[in-house]
Amino acid sequence: MASSAQMAATGAATRALSEFCSDVVMGLSHPGQKELPSKYLYDALGSALFDAICLLPEYGLSRAEMRLLERHAREVVERLPGPVVVAELGSGNGQKTRYLLEALARRQRVNYYPIDISGSALFRCQQELGHLEMVSLVGFESAYLDGLHKVAARRREGERLLVLFLGSTIGNFDRPAGEQFLRDVRATLREGDSLLLATDLEKPIPMVKLAYDDPPGVTAAFNKNILARINRELGGEFDLSQFEHVVRYDESERRIEMHLRSKAWQNVAIRKAGFRLHLRKDETIWTESSHKYDRQEVKEISGRAGFEPAGQWIDAEWPFAQTLFFAV
Ligand SMILES: C[S@@+](CC[C@H](N)C(=O)[O-])C[C@H]1O[C@@H](n2cnc3c(N)ncnc32)[C@H](O)[C@@H]1O
Repeated sequence: MASSAQMAATGAATRALSEFCSDVVMGLSHPGQKELPSKYLYDALGSALFDAICLLPEYGLSRAEMRLLERHAREVVERLPGPVVVAELGSGNGQKTRYLLEALARRQRVNYYPIDISGSALFRCQQELGHLEMVSLVGFESAYLDGLHKVAARRREGERLLVLFLGSTIGNFDRPAGEQFLRDVRATLREGDSLLLATDLEKPIPMVKLAYDDPPGVTAAFNKNILARINRELGGEFDLSQFEHVVRYDESERRIEMHLRSKAWQNVAIRKAGFRLHLRKDETIWTESSHKYDRQEVKEISGRAGFEPAGQWIDAEWPFAQTLFFAV
């Protein structure tokens, strides 16, 4: 007989699959631009491909952030009145977070709660950070805010929450949605809690485009994996060779857009959804945005969402900012 934990896990997996199915149908039914939510890029294969992207010389974001944390983690920690519990939104493999946890662990025991929609990313995070001295890790496989609410409910009296949102993942939201997301994060926090927010800054367009369109084609594989995932999980019949990875920079929105361009007229069944997708030649499916910021703008957006800046660090080689805020 199945245990209640097994039954709960099966129920959660069924709900996740049904939400994936309805999001796919909704995004691909748009009369105008067809879209797929970028969170579905991150299944086990997508998360592994993202880790590979972080190793590419063209993808300067990760190394910039690594340099910043290596140099400034102690300074960040010194600005935080303790004791602090740490929640990380979209932790991925957690590699860069090590510097912060080690700096914090020099002064206190640390409860660290990575939150990620990808179970395999959390598994890697556990491998990376689960054995640090003075650090106890409990992961939440869930959407950002659901996870954050659970972490907030666990904190003890007198503990402050430090929320990490690294990797410039906020750039996946449109600017208004990003600001609303920060408001939602703020609503979960108490005055005096903190947020360390990473944002990729504007830079020359060829440099930023290359970061999302690397010559070996790792980002192209990451992008196409969203269709492969639909094939695996929803009985889709996409022929991946009929799609091209396309990267555009929208100058007015100051964002990279990743699309999948159909090389031909196509009529593709997604069997479990009972849905057929019609695509014209050269029509695209928009899969991800990565907005780029101005360092001052980051403070303004966060200020409107209820945060006050307490420090900002910029990488000298690859324009990238980490900004520390207090909830006010
Ligand atoms: C761009 S990666 C960044 C990973 C890591 N923070 C880093 O800096 O390398 C985004 C991460 O957020 C996770 N993610 C994406 N959408 C999410 C959502 N709605 N809720 C929770 N996690 C999400 C992905 O699985 C992925 O691990």
